[in-house]
Amino acid sequence: MNYRINPKTGAKLSLLGFGAMRLPGLAGNPSEIDEAEAIRMIRYAVGNGVNYVDTAFTYNEGESEKIVAKALGGAHGEGVYVATKMPTMRLREPKEHSYFLDLSRSRLNRDCIDYYLLHGMKERYWDVVRRCDTISFLVKKKAEGLIRNMGFSFHGQTFDFFREVLDAGPWDFVQIQLNYMDADIQAGVEGLKYAASKGLAVMIMEPLKGGKLTDKIPPGIQRYWDAIDIKRTPADWGLRWVANFPEVTVVLSGMSTMEQVRENVAILSGADAGCLSGRELSVIAEMAGEYNKLIPYACTACKYCSAGCPKQIDIPLVIGMRNEAAVFDCKDKITYELNHLVRKPPSLCVACGKCEEVCPQHLPVASIMKETSGMFEDASLQWWREYV
Ligand SMILES: NC(=O)c1ccc[n+]([C@@H]2O[C@H](COP(=O)([O-])OP(=O)(O)OC[C@H]3O[C@@H](n4cnc5c(N)ncnc54)[C@H](OP(=O)(O)O)[C@@H]3O)[C@@H](O)[C@H]2O)c1
Repeated sequence: MNYRINPKTGAKLSLLGFGAMRLPGLAGNPSEIDEAEAIRMIRYAVGNGVNYVDTAFTYNEGESEKIVAKALGGAHGEGVYVATKMPTMRLREPKEHSYFLDLSRSRLNRDCIDYYLLHGMKERYWDVVRRCDTISFLVKKKAEGLIRNMGFSFHGQTFDFFREVLDAGPWDFVQIQLNYMDADIQAGVEGLKYAASKGLAVMIMEPLKGGKLTDKIPPGIQRYWDAIDIKRTPADWGLRWVANFPEVTVVLSGMSTMEQVRENVAILSGADAGCLSGRELSVIAEMAGEYNKLIPYACTACKYCSAGCPKQIDIPLVIGMRNEAAVFDCKDKITYELNHLVRKPPSLCVACGKCEEVCPQHLPVASIMKETSGMFEDASLQWWREYV
Protein backbone atom coordinates (compact mmCIF):
# COMPACT_ATOMS: atom_id res chain seq x y z
CA MET A 1 0.00 0.00 0.00
CA ASN A 2 1.17 3.52 -0.75
CA TYR A 3 0.99 6.03 2.09
CA ARG A 4 0.74 9.80 2.24
CA ILE A 5 1.57 12.09 5.10
CA ASN A 6 -1.20 14.10 6.75
CA PRO A 7 0.36 17.58 6.45
CA LYS A 8 -1.27 18.75 9.69
CA THR A 9 -0.25 15.89 11.98
CA GLY A 10 2.50 13.96 10.24
CA ALA A 11 0.40 10.78 10.46
CA LYS A 12 1.07 8.23 7.72
CA LEU A 13 -2.26 7.46 6.02
CA SER A 14 -2.92 4.75 3.45
CA LEU A 15 -3.66 6.14 0.00
CA LEU A 16 -6.71 3.85 -0.17
CA GLY A 17 -9.30 4.50 2.52
CA PHE A 18 -12.22 2.13 3.10
CA GLY A 19 -15.53 3.95 2.55
CA ALA A 20 -18.12 2.12 4.64
CA MET A 21 -21.13 3.58 2.81
CA ARG A 22 -21.69 0.81 0.30
CA LEU A 23 -21.24 -2.32 2.40
CA PRO A 24 -22.46 -5.51 0.72
CA GLY A 25 -26.12 -6.47 1.00
CA LEU A 26 -27.41 -9.92 1.86
CA ALA A 27 -28.19 -12.09 -1.14
CA GLY A 28 -31.96 -11.93 -1.52
CA ASN A 29 -32.28 -8.87 0.73
CA PRO A 30 -29.81 -6.21 -0.43
CA SER A 31 -31.22 -3.57 1.95
CA GLU A 32 -29.70 -5.51 4.87
CA ILE A 33 -25.92 -5.57 5.25
CA ASP A 34 -24.12 -8.88 4.95
CA GLU A 35 -22.25 -8.28 8.18
CA ALA A 36 -19.89 -11.25 8.00
CA GLU A 37 -18.80 -10.32 4.47
CA ALA A 38 -18.47 -6.61 5.33
CA ILE A 39 -16.22 -7.50 8.28
CA ARG A 40 -14.16 -9.83 6.10
CA MET A 41 -13.71 -7.07 3.50
CA ILE A 42 -12.70 -4.40 6.03
CA ARG A 43 -10.25 -6.79 7.70
CA TYR A 44 -8.79 -7.81 4.35
CA ALA A 45 -8.20 -4.14 3.51
CA VAL A 46 -6.64 -3.44 6.91
CA GLY A 47 -4.54 -6.60 6.68
CA ASN A 48 -3.21 -5.27 3.40
CA GLY A 49 -2.21 -1.86 4.66
CA VAL A 50 -5.38 0.27 4.69
CA ASN A 51 -5.39 2.34 7.88
CA TYR A 52 -8.23 4.82 7.26
CA VAL A 53 -11.91 3.83 7.44
CA ASP A 54 -14.69 6.32 6.73
CA THR A 55 -18.23 5.92 8.05
CA ALA A 56 -21.03 8.25 9.19
CA PHE A 57 -23.80 8.57 11.76
CA THR A 58 -26.38 8.15 9.00
CA TYR A 59 -24.92 5.28 6.95
CA ASN A 60 -27.38 2.40 7.12
CA GLU A 61 -29.01 4.20 10.06
CA GLY A 62 -26.03 3.53 12.33
CA GLU A 63 -25.35 -0.04 11.22
CA SER A 64 -22.25 0.99 9.29
CA GLU A 65 -20.64 2.50 12.42
CA LYS A 66 -21.45 -0.64 14.41
CA ILE A 67 -20.01 -2.96 11.76
CA VAL A 68 -16.86 -0.84 11.50
CA ALA A 69 -16.51 -1.18 15.30
CA LYS A 70 -16.89 -4.96 15.07
CA ALA A 71 -14.47 -5.26 12.16
CA LEU A 72 -11.88 -3.18 14.01
CA GLY A 73 -12.41 -4.73 17.43
CA GLY A 74 -9.33 -5.69 19.48
CA ALA A 75 -6.07 -6.07 17.61
CA HIS A 76 -7.79 -5.65 14.21
CA GLY A 77 -8.16 -1.91 14.83
CA GLU A 78 -4.65 -1.18 16.04
CA GLY A 79 -3.18 1.73 14.11
CA VAL A 80 -6.38 2.25 12.10
CA TYR A 81 -7.86 5.74 11.95
CA VAL A 82 -11.65 5.98 11.94
CA ALA A 83 -13.59 8.88 10.46
CA THR A 84 -17.25 9.52 11.14
CA LYS A 85 -19.63 12.41 10.58
CA MET A 86 -22.12 14.57 12.43
CA PRO A 87 -25.41 14.48 10.48
CA THR A 88 -25.65 18.18 9.70
CA MET A 89 -28.77 17.42 7.65
CA ARG A 90 -30.55 16.44 10.89
CA LEU A 91 -29.10 19.17 13.10
CA ARG A 92 -31.66 21.66 14.44
CA GLU A 93 -30.43 22.83 17.87
CA PRO A 94 -27.00 23.18 19.54
CA LYS A 95 -28.05 20.72 22.26
CA GLU A 96 -28.04 17.95 19.62
CA HIS A 97 -24.29 18.27 19.01
CA SER A 98 -23.30 16.10 21.97
CA TYR A 99 -26.04 13.57 21.24
CA PHE A 100 -24.68 12.95 17.74
CA LEU A 101 -21.02 12.82 18.80
CA ASP A 102 -21.63 10.60 21.83
CA LEU A 103 -23.81 8.15 19.92
CA SER A 104 -21.13 7.78 17.23
CA ARG A 105 -18.45 7.27 19.92
CA SER A 106 -20.58 4.63 21.55
CA ARG A 107 -21.44 2.81 18.30
CA LEU A 108 -17.80 2.89 17.25
CA ASN A 109 -16.66 1.87 20.73
CA ARG A 110 -14.02 4.61 20.74
CA ASP A 111 -13.53 7.33 23.35
CA CYS A 112 -11.95 9.62 20.80
CA ILE A 113 -12.92 9.96 17.12
CA ASP A 114 -9.78 10.26 14.99
CA TYR A 115 -11.40 12.21 12.14
CA TYR A 116 -14.75 13.90 12.80
CA LEU A 117 -16.58 15.69 10.00
CA LEU A 118 -19.61 17.84 9.47
CA HIS A 119 -21.43 15.73 6.93
CA GLY A 120 -22.08 16.81 3.34
CA MET A 121 -21.81 20.58 3.73
CA LYS A 122 -24.27 22.35 1.45
CA GLU A 123 -25.53 25.89 1.52
CA ARG A 124 -28.63 25.18 3.64
CA TYR A 125 -26.76 23.05 6.21
CA TRP A 126 -24.11 25.74 6.52
CA ASP A 127 -26.78 28.20 7.70
CA VAL A 128 -27.73 25.77 10.48
CA VAL A 129 -24.10 25.10 11.40
CA ARG A 130 -23.53 28.83 11.80
CA ARG A 131 -26.71 29.36 13.81
CA CYS A 132 -25.80 26.46 16.14
CA ASP A 133 -22.14 27.56 16.38
CA THR A 134 -21.13 23.99 15.58
CA ILE A 135 -17.52 24.92 14.84
CA SER A 136 -17.05 26.13 18.44
CA PHE A 137 -18.47 22.80 19.63
CA LEU A 138 -15.90 20.90 17.57
CA VAL A 139 -13.05 23.09 18.82
CA LYS A 140 -14.16 22.45 22.42
CA LYS A 141 -14.44 18.68 21.94
CA LYS A 142 -11.03 18.61 20.30
CA ALA A 143 -9.57 20.40 23.33
CA GLU A 144 -11.30 17.85 25.59
CA GLY A 145 -9.73 15.00 23.62
CA LEU A 146 -12.96 13.55 22.17
CA ILE A 147 -12.01 14.45 18.59
CA ARG A 148 -8.51 14.31 17.14
CA ASN A 149 -9.02 16.03 13.76
CA MET A 150 -11.98 18.22 12.79
CA GLY A 151 -13.18 18.59 9.22
CA PHE A 152 -16.12 18.75 6.88
CA SER A 153 -17.23 16.88 3.80
CA PHE A 154 -18.44 19.07 0.99
CA HIS A 155 -21.31 18.81 -1.47
CA GLY A 156 -21.97 22.49 -2.07
CA GLN A 157 -22.27 23.66 -5.63
CA THR A 158 -19.38 26.05 -6.10
CA PHE A 159 -15.72 26.51 -5.32
CA ASP A 160 -16.49 29.98 -3.86
CA PHE A 161 -18.79 28.42 -1.29
CA PHE A 162 -16.16 25.76 -0.52
CA ARG A 163 -13.61 28.50 0.13
CA GLU A 164 -16.08 30.34 2.38
CA VAL A 165 -16.59 27.25 4.57
CA LEU A 166 -12.92 26.37 4.57
CA ASP A 167 -11.89 29.88 5.61
CA ALA A 168 -14.47 29.97 8.41
CA GLY A 169 -12.91 27.47 10.81
CA PRO A 170 -9.69 25.96 12.15
CA TRP A 171 -10.17 22.79 10.11
CA ASP A 172 -7.63 19.97 10.05
CA PHE A 173 -8.94 18.23 6.94
CA VAL A 174 -11.64 18.22 4.29
CA GLN A 175 -13.39 15.56 2.25
CA ILE A 176 -14.36 16.44 -1.31
CA GLN A 177 -15.85 14.68 -4.34
CA LEU A 178 -13.31 14.28 -7.13
CA ASN A 179 -13.07 12.12 -10.23
CA TYR A 180 -12.14 12.74 -13.85
CA MET A 181 -15.71 13.65 -14.76
CA ASP A 182 -16.13 16.07 -11.85
CA ALA A 183 -12.88 18.01 -12.00
CA ASP A 184 -14.73 21.33 -12.26
CA ILE A 185 -17.84 20.85 -10.16
CA GLN A 186 -18.37 21.38 -6.40
CA ALA A 187 -14.92 22.02 -4.83
CA GLY A 188 -13.19 20.43 -7.83
CA VAL A 189 -9.47 20.42 -8.53
CA GLU A 190 -9.40 24.10 -7.55
CA GLY A 191 -10.74 23.16 -4.11
CA LEU A 192 -8.21 20.34 -3.75
CA LYS A 193 -5.35 22.73 -4.46
CA TYR A 194 -6.79 25.46 -2.24
CA ALA A 195 -7.21 23.12 0.75
CA ALA A 196 -3.72 21.69 0.25
CA SER A 197 -2.26 25.22 0.04
CA LYS A 198 -3.75 25.84 3.50
CA GLY A 199 -1.91 22.78 4.84
CA LEU A 200 -5.00 20.58 5.20
CA ALA A 201 -5.26 16.87 4.58
CA VAL A 202 -7.66 16.19 1.68
CA MET A 203 -9.71 13.01 1.59
CA ILE A 204 -11.38 12.21 -1.74
CA MET A 205 -14.84 10.69 -1.99
CA GLU A 206 -16.57 9.30 -5.07
CA PRO A 207 -13.33 8.76 -7.02
CA LEU A 208 -15.28 6.44 -9.35
CA LYS A 209 -18.34 8.72 -9.32
CA GLY A 210 -20.08 6.30 -6.99
CA GLY A 211 -19.46 3.44 -9.43
CA LYS A 212 -20.80 5.20 -12.54
CA LEU A 213 -17.33 5.20 -14.09
CA THR A 214 -17.12 1.45 -13.71
CA ASP A 215 -20.56 0.65 -15.10
CA LYS A 216 -21.12 -0.24 -18.72
CA ILE A 217 -19.03 2.08 -20.90
CA PRO A 218 -21.25 4.08 -23.32
CA PRO A 219 -20.73 3.46 -27.05
CA GLY A 220 -18.19 5.90 -28.45
CA ILE A 221 -16.25 6.15 -25.18
CA GLN A 222 -14.40 2.83 -25.35
CA ARG A 223 -12.34 4.09 -28.27
CA TYR A 224 -10.59 6.55 -25.91
CA TRP A 225 -9.44 3.71 -23.69
CA ASP A 226 -8.46 1.77 -26.81
CA ALA A 227 -6.30 4.72 -27.92
CA ILE A 228 -3.97 4.19 -24.97
CA ASP A 229 -1.50 1.32 -25.32
CA ILE A 230 -1.64 0.32 -21.66
CA LYS A 231 -4.77 -1.65 -20.80
CA ARG A 232 -6.36 -1.02 -17.43
CA THR A 233 -9.81 -1.59 -15.91
CA PRO A 234 -12.13 1.43 -15.54
CA ALA A 235 -11.55 1.33 -11.76
CA ASP A 236 -7.80 1.41 -12.31
CA TRP A 237 -8.03 4.47 -14.58
CA GLY A 238 -10.40 6.27 -12.23
CA LEU A 239 -8.41 5.68 -9.03
CA ARG A 240 -5.13 6.37 -10.79
CA TRP A 241 -6.41 9.75 -12.03
CA VAL A 242 -7.07 10.82 -8.43
CA ALA A 243 -3.88 9.29 -7.01
CA ASN A 244 -1.90 11.24 -9.59
CA PHE A 245 -2.50 14.48 -7.60
CA PRO A 246 0.19 14.89 -4.93
CA GLU A 247 -2.24 17.09 -2.94
CA VAL A 248 -4.56 14.11 -2.28
CA THR A 249 -4.05 12.46 1.11
CA VAL A 250 -6.55 9.55 1.06
CA VAL A 251 -8.71 8.15 -1.76
CA LEU A 252 -11.88 6.70 -0.25
CA SER A 253 -13.64 3.99 -2.16
CA GLY A 254 -16.97 2.49 -1.12
CA MET A 255 -16.23 -1.04 -2.22
CA SER A 256 -19.19 -3.40 -2.27
CA THR A 257 -17.51 -6.74 -3.03
CA MET A 258 -14.35 -8.51 -1.93
CA GLU A 259 -13.12 -8.51 -5.55
CA GLN A 260 -13.33 -4.71 -5.59
CA VAL A 261 -11.38 -4.51 -2.33
CA ARG A 262 -8.66 -6.76 -3.69
CA GLU A 263 -8.45 -4.80 -6.95
CA ASN A 264 -8.41 -1.36 -5.30
CA VAL A 265 -5.80 -2.42 -2.74
CA ALA A 266 -3.63 -3.61 -5.61
CA ILE A 267 -4.20 -0.42 -7.65
CA LEU A 268 -3.31 1.99 -4.85
CA SER A 269 -0.35 -0.10 -3.81
CA GLY A 270 1.08 0.72 -7.24
CA ALA A 271 -0.35 4.07 -8.40
CA ASP A 272 1.05 7.21 -6.83
CA ALA A 273 1.56 10.90 -7.60
CA GLY A 274 2.77 11.36 -11.16
CA CYS A 275 1.67 7.84 -12.18
CA LEU A 276 -0.02 9.08 -15.38
CA SER A 277 1.85 10.38 -18.42
CA GLY A 278 0.89 13.63 -20.13
CA ARG A 279 -0.51 11.59 -23.01
CA GLU A 280 -2.68 9.48 -20.67
CA LEU A 281 -3.97 12.60 -18.94
CA SER A 282 -4.92 14.25 -22.21
CA VAL A 283 -6.76 11.14 -23.46
CA ILE A 284 -8.72 11.03 -20.17
CA ALA A 285 -9.54 14.75 -20.51
CA GLU A 286 -10.71 14.21 -24.11
CA MET A 287 -12.84 11.30 -22.98
CA ALA A 288 -14.41 13.32 -20.16
CA GLY A 289 -15.20 15.97 -22.79
CA GLU A 290 -16.80 13.30 -24.97
CA TYR A 291 -18.86 12.05 -22.02
CA ASN A 292 -19.97 15.64 -21.43
CA LYS A 293 -21.25 15.90 -25.00
CA LEU A 294 -23.78 13.19 -24.15
CA ILE A 295 -25.34 15.46 -21.53
CA PRO A 296 -28.80 16.57 -22.73
CA TYR A 297 -29.41 19.65 -20.56
CA ALA A 298 -26.70 22.32 -20.40
CA CYS A 299 -27.32 23.32 -16.78
CA THR A 300 -24.45 25.28 -15.25
CA ALA A 301 -25.83 25.09 -11.68
CA CYS A 302 -26.04 28.88 -11.44
CA LYS A 303 -29.08 28.31 -9.16
CA TYR A 304 -31.10 31.26 -10.47
CA CYS A 305 -33.94 28.74 -10.81
CA SER A 306 -34.00 27.34 -7.29
CA ALA A 307 -33.88 30.76 -5.62
CA GLY A 308 -37.49 31.43 -6.67
CA CYS A 309 -38.89 27.88 -6.57
CA PRO A 310 -42.02 27.89 -4.38
CA LYS A 311 -41.43 24.20 -3.59
CA GLN A 312 -37.72 24.67 -2.80
CA ILE A 313 -36.71 21.97 -5.25
CA ASP A 314 -32.94 21.77 -5.72
CA ILE A 315 -33.42 22.07 -9.47
CA PRO A 316 -29.72 21.86 -10.52
CA LEU A 317 -29.33 18.69 -8.46
CA VAL A 318 -32.33 17.05 -10.16
CA ILE A 319 -31.16 18.15 -13.62
CA GLY A 320 -27.71 16.77 -12.78
CA MET A 321 -29.28 13.39 -12.03
CA ARG A 322 -31.28 13.46 -15.25
CA ASN A 323 -28.08 14.28 -17.15
CA GLU A 324 -26.14 11.47 -15.50
CA ALA A 325 -28.88 9.02 -16.40
CA ALA A 326 -28.45 9.99 -20.05
CA VAL A 327 -24.69 9.42 -19.95
CA PHE A 328 -24.13 6.46 -17.66
CA ASP A 329 -25.77 3.08 -17.28
CA CYS A 330 -26.92 3.98 -13.76
CA LYS A 331 -30.71 3.80 -13.49
CA ASP A 332 -30.60 1.92 -10.17
CA LYS A 333 -28.12 4.35 -8.64
CA ILE A 334 -30.11 7.43 -9.65
CA THR A 335 -33.30 5.80 -8.38
CA TYR A 336 -31.60 5.20 -5.05
CA GLU A 337 -30.17 8.71 -4.83
CA LEU A 338 -33.35 10.51 -5.84
CA ASN A 339 -35.53 8.58 -3.41
CA HIS A 340 -33.12 8.40 -0.47
CA LEU A 341 -31.05 11.57 -0.60
CA VAL A 342 -33.17 14.33 -2.15
CA ARG A 343 -35.37 16.20 0.31
CA LYS A 344 -37.62 17.94 -2.21
CA PRO A 345 -38.38 15.60 -5.12
CA PRO A 346 -39.17 16.85 -8.63
CA SER A 347 -42.78 15.63 -8.32
CA LEU A 348 -43.40 18.70 -6.10
CA CYS A 349 -43.01 20.92 -9.19
CA VAL A 350 -46.20 22.89 -9.93
CA ALA A 351 -44.93 24.18 -13.30
CA CYS A 352 -45.30 27.79 -12.16
CA GLY A 353 -42.64 28.76 -14.72
CA LYS A 354 -40.67 31.12 -12.40
CA CYS A 355 -37.51 29.06 -12.91
CA GLU A 356 -37.87 29.08 -16.69
CA GLU A 357 -38.18 32.88 -16.72
CA VAL A 358 -34.78 33.25 -15.05
CA CYS A 359 -32.83 30.29 -16.45
CA PRO A 360 -29.93 31.76 -18.48
CA GLN A 361 -29.76 28.52 -20.49
CA HIS A 362 -33.50 28.67 -21.33
CA LEU A 363 -34.02 25.13 -20.11
CA PRO A 364 -37.55 23.65 -20.05
CA VAL A 365 -37.26 23.09 -16.30
CA ALA A 366 -40.86 22.04 -15.60
CA SER A 367 -40.78 19.35 -18.25
CA ILE A 368 -37.37 18.12 -17.03
CA MET A 369 -38.82 17.84 -13.49
CA LYS A 370 -41.78 15.85 -14.82
CA GLU A 371 -39.59 13.64 -16.97
CA THR A 372 -37.12 12.94 -14.12
CA SER A 373 -39.88 12.24 -11.63
CA GLY A 374 -41.50 9.80 -14.05
CA MET A 375 -38.21 8.03 -14.67
CA PHE A 376 -37.01 7.63 -11.09
CA GLU A 377 -39.41 8.58 -8.31
CA ASP A 378 -40.86 5.84 -6.16
CA ALA A 379 -43.08 7.06 -3.31
CA SER A 380 -42.63 3.80 -1.38
CA LEU A 381 -38.94 4.65 -0.88
CA GLN A 382 -39.55 8.16 0.44
CA TRP A 383 -40.82 7.42 3.97
CA TRP A 384 -37.69 9.02 5.48
CA ARG A 385 -38.59 12.51 4.25
CA GLU A 386 -40.81 13.19 7.26
CA TYR A 387 -37.75 12.79 9.55
CA VAL A 388 -35.58 15.47 7.92
N1 LIG B 1 -19.43 12.84 3.14
C1 LIG B 1 -20.24 12.64 2.16
O1 LIG B 1 -21.14 13.43 1.93
C2 LIG B 1 -20.00 11.43 1.32
C3 LIG B 1 -20.67 11.27 0.11
C4 LIG B 1 -20.31 10.20 -0.67
C5 LIG B 1 -19.34 9.33 -0.21
N2 LIG B 1 -18.73 9.47 0.98
C6 LIG B 1 -17.70 8.55 1.49
O2 LIG B 1 -16.72 8.36 0.50
C7 LIG B 1 -16.62 6.97 0.21
C8 LIG B 1 -16.23 6.81 -1.23
O3 LIG B 1 -17.26 7.27 -2.10
P1 LIG B 1 -17.97 6.23 -3.05
O4 LIG B 1 -18.42 5.06 -2.27
O5 LIG B 1 -18.95 6.99 -3.86
O6 LIG B 1 -16.68 5.76 -3.94
P2 LIG B 1 -16.56 5.29 -5.43
O7 LIG B 1 -15.30 4.48 -5.45
O8 LIG B 1 -16.68 6.43 -6.37
O9 LIG B 1 -17.81 4.35 -5.70
C9 LIG B 1 -17.92 3.09 -5.11
C10 LIG B 1 -18.58 2.17 -6.10
O10 LIG B 1 -17.72 2.05 -7.23
C11 LIG B 1 -17.75 0.74 -7.72
N3 LIG B 1 -16.39 0.17 -7.58
C12 LIG B 1 -15.45 0.40 -6.61
N4 LIG B 1 -14.33 -0.30 -6.86
C13 LIG B 1 -14.56 -0.99 -8.01
C14 LIG B 1 -13.79 -1.89 -8.77
N5 LIG B 1 -12.54 -2.22 -8.42
N6 LIG B 1 -14.34 -2.43 -9.90
C15 LIG B 1 -15.61 -2.11 -10.28
N7 LIG B 1 -16.39 -1.25 -9.59
C16 LIG B 1 -15.86 -0.70 -8.46
C17 LIG B 1 -18.77 -0.02 -6.88
O11 LIG B 1 -20.02 0.10 -7.55
P3 LIG B 1 -21.08 -1.11 -7.49
O12 LIG B 1 -21.45 -1.27 -6.07
O13 LIG B 1 -22.18 -0.62 -8.38
O14 LIG B 1 -20.36 -2.31 -8.02
C18 LIG B 1 -18.77 0.75 -5.59
O15 LIG B 1 -19.98 0.62 -4.88
C19 LIG B 1 -18.02 6.42 0.58
O16 LIG B 1 -18.02 5.03 0.73
C20 LIG B 1 -18.28 7.17 1.85
O17 LIG B 1 -17.56 6.58 2.92
C21 LIG B 1 -19.05 10.53 1.72
